[in-house]
Amino acid sequence: MTTMVEKSVEVEVPVSTAYNQWTQFEEFPTFMGGVKEVVQVDDTTLHWVAEIAGVRREWDAEILEQVPDQKVAWAAIGGATNAGAVHFAPAGPDRTLLTLQLEYEPEGLVESAGDALGIIERQAEADVQRFKDLIESRGTESGAWRGDVRDQAPVGTPGVEDAFLSEGDSGKAGVSGKAVAAGVAAAGVAGVAAAALAKGSGDEDSASASGLDVVDVLTTDHDEATALLAEISATPDAGTRRDLADTLIAELVRHSVAEEMYVYPAMRKHLPDGDQAVEHDIEEHKELETLMKQLEGLEPLEPRFDEVLGELASTLQDHVADEEGSHFPQLRAALPREDLVGLADKVEAAKKLAPTRPHPGAPNAKLFHKVVGPGVGFVDRLRDKLSGRTTG
Ligand SMILES: [Fe+2]
Ligand SMILES: [Fe+2]
Repeated sequence: MTTMVEKSVEVEVPVSTAYNQWTQFEEFPTFMGGVKEVVQVDDTTLHWVAEIAGVRREWDAEILEQVPDQKVAWAAIGGATNAGAVHFAPAGPDRTLLTLQLEYEPEGLVESAGDALGIIERQAEADVQRFKDLIESRGTESGAWRGDVRDQAPVGTPGVEDAFLSEGDSGKAGVSGKAVAAGVAAAGVAGVAAAALAKGSGDEDSASASGLDVVDVLTTDHDEATALLAEISATPDAGTRRDLADTLIAELVRHSVAEEMYVYPAMRKHLPDGDQAVEHDIEEHKELETLMKQLEGLEPLEPRFDEVLGELASTLQDHVADEEGSHFPQLRAALPREDLVGLADKVEAAKKLAPTRPHPGAPNAKLFHKVVGPGVGFVDRLRDKLSGRTTG
């Protein structure tokens, strides 16, 4: 499912000034949240560096169309899957209507949660507002590049399709390798989400009070999910099955979101093969997500329900074996105990805030369905698109 964000702002400078300023791509970090550096590699290639939830992300974007005083359109060619366009239109003699459009695929549970919470949209809004403040306070552009880029047919607003199509051989790494980066101007979104979650941490039943570290907390989650799966299998009643399945899905989603936000970034940083381990684990989360979506759409007493439940059980078992047998012990060995306890607190806080209740009528139900709603997800479509190039 693609997400589109569109934000407009009227800027009190002539069109040429606004446009010229926008072509100073290397100045993007001055108004784009989370963006650390943009390097213009050549006329049509930009290298982006953003810091997201404390993790550095890099990707290249290609400028697909650039028409002086009208538009700039781009698509990522590796790293974050995103595309966008900015349009400029006169809104009076010395006024410009600037419209920023972003299209991106939320990838994984963290992005989907951030997306559902509207964080990316607010980030884009803040970015265009900061651009307005920047150019209005200067009154004049700091530079200009007025070349034309239109070696293809006019692209309108390129979609994420263009991002896939413009990928080179490194494309596979580009689309599967990132955990969080969402939109170009919204690249800092997950950092915002992380900060919000950290703020939501309550002291009452914090892990540090009980002395548990992050591995204890996550292992308990695994045990509870495994026990729930067995209970569902052993339950003959349809209504009880549904309730238990809803609870299982909610708990697993909250657990996975917390891991992706806090635990996997720490693994990336501290494990010898951290990136590889995390990418493997995120793949497994996606498999779990797909199975949970299927389970949600099935009647509790039809045979297929039990089949999917069985697949979910074995996929979870594999995933838990990787985490508890290898990744978590390495994390425990690499980090001092106080850091592990601190991570436990963050995980508990994230679990409180993450969308949870799939049961209709529950307060979070709408949010939950937006995140883990039924239907074929982006991951499946992307796998099809890349089939022949992927091994799995
Ligand atoms: Fe886990
Ligand atoms: Fe996990």
